[in-house]
Amino acid sequence: MAEALRVGIAGLGTVGASVARVLRDKAVELTRQCGRDIVVAAVSARDPKRDRGVDLNAAKWFDDPVKMAQAAEIDVFVELIGGDEGPAFAAVKTALEAGRHVVTANKALLAKHGVALAEIAEKKGVLLNYEAAVAGGIPVIKTMREAMAGNSVTRVFGILNGTCNYILTRMEAEGISFDACLKDAQRLGYAEADPTFDIEGHDTAHKLSILTSLAFGTKIAANDIYMEGISNITQADIRAAGDLGYRIKLLGVAQRTESGIEQRVHPTMVPTASVIAQVHGVVNAVAIETDILGELLLSGPGAGGNATASAVIGDIADIAKSRPGFQHGPVFGRPAKELKPYKKAQMRSHAGGYFIRLTVHDRIGVFAAIAKRMADNDISLESIVQHAISGEAAAQKTVILVTHETTEAAVRKAVDGITKDGHLTDKPQVIRIERAG
Ligand SMILES: NC(=O)c1ccc[n+]([C@@H]2O[C@H](COP(=O)([O-])OP(=O)(O)OC[C@H]3O[C@@H](n4cnc5c(N)ncnc54)[C@H](OP(=O)(O)O)[C@@H]3O)[C@@H](O)[C@H]2O)c1
Repeated sequence: MAEALRVGIAGLGTVGASVARVLRDKAVELTRQCGRDIVVAAVSARDPKRDRGVDLNAAKWFDDPVKMAQAAEIDVFVELIGGDEGPAFAAVKTALEAGRHVVTANKALLAKHGVALAEIAEKKGVLLNYEAAVAGGIPVIKTMREAMAGNSVTRVFGILNGTCNYILTRMEAEGISFDACLKDAQRLGYAEADPTFDIEGHDTAHKLSILTSLAFGTKIAANDIYMEGISNITQADIRAAGDLGYRIKLLGVAQRTESGIEQRVHPTMVPTASVIAQVHGVVNAVAIETDILGELLLSGPGAGGNATASAVIGDIADIAKSRPGFQHGPVFGRPAKELKPYKKAQMRSHAGGYFIRLTVHDRIGVFAAIAKRMADNDISLESIVQHAISGEAAAQKTVILVTHETTEAAVRKAVDGITKDGHLTDKPQVIRIERAG
């Protein structure tokens, strides 16, 4: 049997400790599958005394993950610390430069330094595997990198943040407000104490930037993503969406257009009957649309210790199965040096349907003024519905418009015009509609 593969795990938190546990519990099975043992030869974390729920006494302890990254005791450096700079970046770079394979679950690191790190890995002839960085346990990187040769991707989109999907699912099922739902999600451990990163779309954007590069062969451009979070979604939006046959999801979407590639993260209305609309709670999903395959949808657990460990261990097993001298495939599907610069499609030229919810004074002429602003901007309406508001706000009405395909620029101009006309009593709500099968 080949020599054991020696793994060093940096970070022994939720994911790191799960990886160590699964490597122990599934050792026999993994040896059978890989043709060699996989041993945890070294570990690093901040607190050497903390109980990790798994006996790591046989592994050499390192206070400094950068030292471990170049230690002679390891073949593979597994980075599960997190963060786009600091010890995670320093250690991953050091490991690759020292000719060690790297496995990471760190989307923030890849969104910022992925291309530069891929160049080092490819120069050194080592693997940089990152299945767990996008959609946790769902094998989407492998699918896009290995199983779709010859396909040209036209669009990739997905539910990439379990916290947001959990909140939107409960808001719809229980009729409770965003704030109440968020508090509950925090109590149950589904949302961080500071939830901004998740609910404002940053986490989804990091993951989307990696998918965009794989889909279109472009350099990662995480700072060029249009981003809107879910914190301003109300019960009124969710109810109106339901009445119109839609469900609201926070989607990350990357799409090839005539003027470039769109990358956008925003609350989105998807048809209730579509497959992606059936993805509830903390579950993630990624849809990939190509010229040959059509639309493929992968869904499953996007986070959590065991699900994420499953992806990390799949990456380690791939390294264990690879043989010396074997030429590894490129990190982002094409050699890093050949990734094209990202050509951004302007958000103003985004074409699609729009849902517009307006709260207006209940007086004569308002409806006609709204319709005129739409017509002036060549926006054709699929439906327009008005509802009286009862109780204290009886002097107001809700007007809900659904447009046929139009452009972002036209919608913004029309809504600005309506706002200037002075008919609104509250901020207008605009939600993009996404085609989904
Ligand atoms: N949690 C998930 O469900 C999930 C899903 C997908 C991807 N990920 C990604 O996986 C990575 C790890 O996430 P996690 O949830 O496991 O994080 P976590 O529970 O906060 O664990 C982080 C670990 O890093 C260690 N650490 C921090 N600073 C260090 C340093 N300077 N040197 C050595 N070790 C250091 C910590 O040590 P101590 O324990 O001693 O403090 C801890 O063990 C992140 O990149 C995250 O984005 C997580």
